[in-house]
Amino acid sequence: MNTITIRRPDDWHVHLRDGDVLTGVTPYTARVFGRAIVMPNLVPPVTTAAMADDYRRRIMAAVPAGSGFTPLMTCYLTDSTSPVDVADGHAAGIFTAAKLYPAGATTNSASGVTAIRNIYPVLEVMQRIGMVLCVHGEVTDPEIDIFDREAVFIDRVLAPLLRDMPGLRVVMEHATTSQAVQFVEGAGDNIAATITPQHLHINRNAMLVGGIRPHAYCLPVAKREEHRQALRRAATGGSGKFFLGTDSAPHAKHMKESGCGCAGIFNAPHALESYLTVFDQEDALDRFERFASLAGPAFYRLPVNEGTITLVRSEQPVPQVLDAAGTTIVPFHAGETIGWKILSMN
Ligand code: DOR
Ligand code: ZN
Repeated sequence: MNTITIRRPDDWHVHLRDGDVLTGVTPYTARVFGRAIVMPNLVPPVTTAAMADDYRRRIMAAVPAGSGFTPLMTCYLTDSTSPVDVADGHAAGIFTAAKLYPAGATTNSASGVTAIRNIYPVLEVMQRIGMVLCVHGEVTDPEIDIFDREAVFIDRVLAPLLRDMPGLRVVMEHATTSQAVQFVEGAGDNIAATITPQHLHINRNAMLVGGIRPHAYCLPVAKREEHRQALRRAATGGSGKFFLGTDSAPHAKHMKESGCGCAGIFNAPHALESYLTVFDQEDALDRFERFASLAGPAFYRLPVNEGTITLVRSEQPVPQVLDAAGTTIVPFHAGETIGWKILSMN
């Protein structure tokens, strides 16, 4: 098979930032994806429906005319989030989902949740109205090794939460471990996960062998090879519980190449081709549309996009750097050649 046509896909987890960088990176996402769940970890974070409505307008101003792209907004949960504002924002069509960042877990998470109990009133309302909770699933306990933080989060936070609220609809964002795969597979239909391109392509060696490579660093960090294999089986297995969420997270090149480099991989420019390469390698091209375009809308209870996109087997070089309205960013796969290219969109 040298071409593949699928329904227009969606990105169920993306960072578009704000200001000039927003203007520079949004076209990459809007070109390919029909919709995207936009993460709220700005400075200051998007914590209210009014802030999300304003942010949505700024995003729309950065969307190229005629792309048809729709940003889906999320509420950044804090210890003092108002259950009423979340529910009203959801009812008004402003919030599609809410995002749980454990305080201190990742970029701009300082205002996140310090103990899950603090947001139980919000989560109870979300369970009742069927609103999706997107979870950054890592504990922040300094005693816990960074490679174990996702697995420990499942045991200490997620499993007990779902015992208390068995109807809560949860997306485990950017799953990176076999423990996450097993947990999602064993849970009910109300639990799903997104998987990034980088966690399907690289294991932790990419970050640490032959020198420290900041452009392979994101959170949760890439794990051992056995985990990458579990993620590849989950993504390409066709269960419908795992779907596309790039976690494209742009940072300026100099902010990553630093004594304390930022976490995040900017994969938006070639994300779809990157995922498709994995499905091709796993001999699962027939399951690609489900992962990229069908399973996400089914979970979020939204219609599938109308348009289609066709990709062709063809060598595509990825540049070493890209310019995002004045900020130099190193994309995922920089300097490599990808074996697929977007041919047309309808
Ligand atoms: O690598 C990451 N970058 N992980 C996150 O959870 C946040 C993101 C960012 O905002 O840069
Ligand atoms: Zn993210």
